[in-house]
Amino acid sequence: MCGIVGVLGDHEAAPILVEALKRLEYRGYDSAGIATVNDGRLDRRRAVGKLVNLSDLLVHEPLPGKAGIGHTRWATHGQPNTTNAHPHRSGPVAVVHNGIIENFKELRAELADHGISAETDTDTETVALLAAHYLKQGLSPRDAAEQTVARLEGAYALCFLFDGEPDLLIAARKGSPLAIGHGDGEMFVGSDAIALAPLTDRITYLDEGDIAFVTRAGVEIRDAKGMLANRQMRTIQLDTAAVDKAGHKHFMSKEIAEQPTVIGNALAYYLDGGNIDIPSDALDFEQVDRLTMVACGTAFYACLTAKYWFEQLARLPVEVDVASEFRYREPPISKGTVALFVSQSGETADTLAALRYCAEKADRIVSVVNVPESSIARESDLALPILAGAEIGVASTKAFTCQLTVLFLLALKAAKARGTLTDDQIAKHLADLQTMPGLIQQAMDLAGPIRSAARQLAEARDILFLGRGLMYPLAHEGALKLKEISYIHAEAYASGELKHGPIALIDKHVPVVVMAPRDALFEKTVSNMHEVMARNGKVLLVTDRQGADEAGDGAWKVLRMPPVSPTLAPILYAVPAQLLAYHTAIAKGTDVDQPRNLAKSVTVE
Ligand code: F6R
Repeated sequence: MCGIVGVLGDHEAAPILVEALKRLEYRGYDSAGIATVNDGRLDRRRAVGKLVNLSDLLVHEPLPGKAGIGHTRWATHGQPNTTNAHPHRSGPVAVVHNGIIENFKELRAELADHGISAETDTDTETVALLAAHYLKQGLSPRDAAEQTVARLEGAYALCFLFDGEPDLLIAARKGSPLAIGHGDGEMFVGSDAIALAPLTDRITYLDEGDIAFVTRAGVEIRDAKGMLANRQMRTIQLDTAAVDKAGHKHFMSKEIAEQPTVIGNALAYYLDGGNIDIPSDALDFEQVDRLTMVACGTAFYACLTAKYWFEQLARLPVEVDVASEFRYREPPISKGTVALFVSQSGETADTLAALRYCAEKADRIVSVVNVPESSIARESDLALPILAGAEIGVASTKAFTCQLTVLFLLALKAAKARGTLTDDQIAKHLADLQTMPGLIQQAMDLAGPIRSAARQLAEARDILFLGRGLMYPLAHEGALKLKEISYIHAEAYASGELKHGPIALIDKHVPVVVMAPRDALFEKTVSNMHEVMARNGKVLLVTDRQGADEAGDGAWKVLRMPPVSPTLAPILYAVPAQLLAYHTAIAKGTDVDQPRNLAKSVTVE
């Protein structure tokens, strides 16, 4: 949610900033801008829309200077227009910001008493106005930034640049991630290590409340109490090629295609012969009475799926909640509860807040994350990586199936500790799981029939997804994927719920996607499917060969999936759900990787 970057280099900053912003564009793309200091003079360029508009502007109006800051915006306060685009400037100071300044109205009113008025609708401009006000009172840039930051409430990652200060960036973090990159005689600031990957692999993450004074010679970090803080510098293994499309038209299709490999990587990481290599001293399921799982969006649907696994395989009671509801409901958390947080980015504000709510109450805080250096990972007692690699497409695909893979392994581990499955049963589940990369590869062959179905789905105004049991959470994930990138209204229902209301929606214009492998609930789902067809509903049945032979007649389209263990079907059936959304979006001509109004990493609540 907004990407920020800063450079103190010995080359022109503008191309470096734009290149880094390209790698952060997944965090928002409503507008972009940069500011530099050249010959001591601060100046900026901003453009509405995608980064390419800023690049075009810079061709006609170049911005020289070797020190600079940059921003790609996901609008929170104020329309995405040029006035509201970052960097925000007030006289000698420019600032870029990720987060929300909650007390900006109070600060604005206070500034108005000094005759200082705002020109934009944003919360961020107040930060620049306040810093400029302190500079005018004679404070140094360093003191002005410190005083400004001390006045802010809410969440922020900030980077300041000052007129007449070509060797100074001041960065501050509270609630939004921020990394300092160390080069040779150059220094960088970025929302994440991905942004800085081509520039340096030496990264220092700021902690909550830190303020960093960056010069080309290095960085001085002060903690929330103003004490000198010694934050560890790490060498990050980031594949800089990971943010290439590798010949695919979109990141999303590359990431769908990567699933056999990344799931294979996760299995290799967690399986040691027949053992699931998750440290028991960090998570002993024998001592656990209850699991509370919290996440948002796709990660929430991974949790809903895992609830079936933990309950059925390990007989462990599980509650699952969306983080934005959980955090304000203030649910009682009893001892013996493990709180489990699932997040691709590891920075989702609501999930992080829910984690902090549980921190003092639950027995253990466990997270399942894709970014091991993320805030959620760092604040957990045990952080389990999903090893999906960088996910750039805004619609989550490979992270979802990797989350499912790791959660399934955790459920098996729980089943073993609680004695609810025999060793042979666990070995059989593991053997089935190891066939998943190959099965996903086969499922990819359905791209042809999916493409042709998608051309017609693209005409629909509403689409329903149905599933039962383990296919119910997946129906939700299929509907979410479709609405995110094709902008078609899609809803998911438990097949058995249809007749309790939603069936009123069915007519020949409403396609219904039925997710139904030939499992124990198949016949029940097929009955519900017939209820749809009896009302002229147009059914797209996703099933296996046996299911297709038994129940395919009368369906508008049937997608024949490879046979799979019913317990693991959600992982495999995620693939046609993703491909349906992808090809429908292509047929509609939407922006698949950067759908409107969305951002990848939701660091505001
Ligand atoms: C959907 C999607 C979002 C995220 C959600 C949580 O395709 O990507 O629904 O799943 O914003 O994000 P993380 O997993 O980063 O916490």
